[in-house]
Amino acid sequence: MNTKGFIFDLDGVIVDTAKYHYLAWKKLANHLGFEFTETHNELFKGVSRKRCLEILLDIGSVNATKEQFDTWMVEKNIDYLKYIEKMDASEILPDVPKILEFLKKNKLPIALGSASKNAQPILEKVGLLHYFDAIVDGNNVTKAKPDPEVFLLAAKQLGVKPENCIVFEDAVAGIEAANNANMTSVGIGDAQILNEAKFNFKNFTKIDINFLTRLIHA
Ligand code: BG6
Ligand code: MG
Repeated sequence: MNTKGFIFDLDGVIVDTAKYHYLAWKKLANHLGFEFTETHNELFKGVSRKRCLEILLDIGSVNATKEQFDTWMVEKNIDYLKYIEKMDASEILPDVPKILEFLKKNKLPIALGSASKNAQPILEKVGLLHYFDAIVDGNNVTKAKPDPEVFLLAAKQLGVKPENCIVFEDAVAGIEAANNANMTSVGIGDAQILNEAKFNFKNFTKIDINFLTRLIHA
């Protein structure tokens, strides 16, 4: 049996921060004079901050100078961080600690593979940082999901071959990135949207220990 490595996305998998990203993007859109809906926000899942602003400006048909673009990226993040500052363990998605605890008890390496540049402070805020043997986030990668870079780097840091890694993801681009990395992809969320995942679960409460044990011994 080869040692397996477990890689978790952050936003939408460990914590429900999509709602805070939404509120911060909405505030910017409103300031620029147009509406930004929750449907629009779906397009932002797993997508880098820079790319999100490009999409947002497309939605509002707003042209920006380089200076304005940079200012708005900073403003959005300052606003987002106001929500993050107030986060605590109550915002961890159901059964995430149970799964992390099970993996830790079985001495399996755990990594974070996220597009966010705010990943580490969020894990600290909610008290989960100590579970992670490696953190790869928006500060360490140059290519966005669906490029496999983030997950390949996480596997390397864990010292586990990509084909022995299991990735938990809530974004289509993230599932594609895991598949592109030749890893086992597990979709967390809507199975119809994440239909390219090898396995699908609505959330972690639907994942039982038998499933994890089978993955570990595969
Ligand atoms: C991803 C989110 O995890 O991180 C995206 O799904 C977000 O919505 C991206 O844009 C970048 O996050 P941040 O915290 O660096 O702005
Ligand atoms: Mg996500």
